[in-house]
Amino acid sequence: MSRRAVNPNRRLVDSGSNPLVGSLHQKSRSSPLLSVGLVLLGAFLLIGYSYHGSGGFGGGREAISKVEGASCTSEVIRAIPFLQKAYGDTMQKVLHVGPNACSVVSMLLKEDNTEAWGVEPYDSEDADSSCKSLVRKGFVRVADIKFPLPYRPRSFNLVIVSDALDYLSPKYLNKTLPDLARISADGLVIFAGFPGQQRAKVSELSKFGRPAKLRSSSWWIRYFVQSGLEENEAAIKKFEQAVSKRSYNPSCQVFHLTS
Ligand SMILES: *[C@@H]1O[C@H](CO)[C@@H](O)[C@H](O)[C@H]1NC(C)=O
Repeated sequence: MSRRAVNPNRRLVDSGSNPLVGSLHQKSRSSPLLSVGLVLLGAFLLIGYSYHGSGGFGGGREAISKVEGASCTSEVIRAIPFLQKAYGDTMQKVLHVGPNACSVVSMLLKEDNTEAWGVEPYDSEDADSSCKSLVRKGFVRVADIKFPLPYRPRSFNLVIVSDALDYLSPKYLNKTLPDLARISADGLVIFAGFPGQQRAKVSELSKFGRPAKLRSSSWWIRYFVQSGLEENEAAIKKFEQAVSKRSYNPSCQVFHLTS
């Protein structure tokens, strides 16, 4: 009954010339629609809020995983311009030793007058196609750095090591470091993590079989002295000059040794 009464009324109002009345009536008529709209709006706001929230959380997680994955290999890539300043013409033949050697090698191969090779300490299943191609072409080889590397003495001007040594006990360091010095003609650059840095990526733990032992700068320097390895004062000075000009702050310890 009431519907019948409303309908003609509505038609009358709708066709009426008073837009305000019309819209008022329309609003009251569409109030279920309005509440659906409000619910939808609320849902959108909630979704938006949770999306934003998860975005923030995701961002946080990303930052954490960046810290967990903080690798000195990515620091090597950032440091390439400064290494070029420090080593100049002796950056001709470079060997990078460490996880993700492919990333450093492909970066260095883009430079003029630089030949680059890499040693990946452990076979990585997650190598992308460009890395597989570097391995196929012989630029990057997978080799256990606990054993002498298959290169002749002084095969490279510069040997750059990142992360890998953090996983070796002194027993193996005693074999590996002299071997790295053997194959380099002009120097050895070591990127090592700072103590307290998060470095326990599960994949790396399983690769190396032991967690990284991040040693202090004084530990390394004492170790170098004991092992008869000398710091390359000239390279240190030039590297630090280049670094301070660009206010670059390496997130890893960088040591320059003569070979
Ligand atoms: C490593 O070499 C140093 C110096 O030659 C020596 O003092 C130390 O005992 C060696 N460490 C191991 C575990 O062989």
